[in-house]
Amino acid sequence: MTTTTRAVKPNRIISSLSSLVACNDLPDPLPSDPMPLLAAWYEDAKHSGRYDDFNAMTLATATPDGAPSARIVLCKALELDPPALVFYTIYESRKGGELEANPRAAAVFHWPHAMRQARVEGRVVRTTDDESDAYFRTRPLLARIGANVSPQSRAIESREGVIGEALRIGAQAALGAELRRPSHWGGYRIIPERIELWSAASGRLHDRALWRRDPDSDAPCWSACRLGA
Ligand SMILES: Cc1cc2nc3c(=O)[nH]c(=O)nc-3n(C[C@H](O)[C@H](O)[C@H](O)COP(=O)(O)O)c2cc1C
Repeated sequence: MTTTTRAVKPNRIISSLSSLVACNDLPDPLPSDPMPLLAAWYEDAKHSGRYDDFNAMTLATATPDGAPSARIVLCKALELDPPALVFYTIYESRKGGELEANPRAAAVFHWPHAMRQARVEGRVVRTTDDESDAYFRTRPLLARIGANVSPQSRAIESREGVIGEALRIGAQAALGAELRRPSHWGGYRIIPERIELWSAASGRLHDRALWRRDPDSDAPCWSACRLGA
C-alpha cells in the first residue's frame, strides 16, 4: 500500500506564518510591573459584557502537608500599590481553614473572549475588620442574610433548616434589626509574588510572561521574563 502526501502551497504556508508574527498581546519589552497590565485585562473583561462574573477566579489552597483544593471565588478588588487581590468568604469554610494553617494561595482567571489566562500566587492575609465591615455593608440584603446563616463547607441537617434560619433573620431585619457582619465572614488579600499572563496565539505559540517579586520587599520590585508556551 502506498500513501501520498499533498504538498501545501507556499503562499498558504507564508500566510500561516505571517499570522504567527502578527499575533502578540503582551507588550515587548515587558513592563517592569505586571499589575497595571493585569488590571487592564480585568477591566477589559468587565467591559466586554460577556460575563455574569468577569471577576470569577479559581482559588487554590492547600493543607500544610500539600493536599490541594480549588474552587471559584469572586475577586472584589485588584489593588496596584501595594499589589493585592481581595476576595471575601467564610473564615470557617474549608478554604478558610486551609488558609489559616497554610496562608498561601494560587488564583487563576480565564477570560475566553480575549483568549487570556492570568495566574497569581502568593501569601494571604486577612483584610481588617473595618474593611470587611465596609464591604459587607455594600452587599445585597440576601447575601448579608446568607453570610449570617451559612455554615459553609460543614455538614448540615437539612437545607430547610438553613433556609428557615435565613427567613427568621430576614424577618428580624424587616422589623428594623441591624444585619451586622458576622465575625466568621470577611476578606483575604492575596499578596502576589508570582504573576503569569498568558494570551493565546496562532500555532500553539502562545504569548506568555512571568513576573516574580521578593515576598519580603514592600516595594513592587518585579523581575520579568517571557516563557515558552
Ligand atoms: C461564580 C461563583 C462565584 C463564587 N464566589 C464565591 C465567593 O466570592 N466567596 C465564597 O466564599 N464562595 C464563592 N463561591 C462558592 C465557592 O466556589 C465554594 O463553593 C465555597 O466558597 C466553599 O468552598 P470551600 O468549601 O472550599 O471553602 C462562588 C461560586 C461560584 C460558582
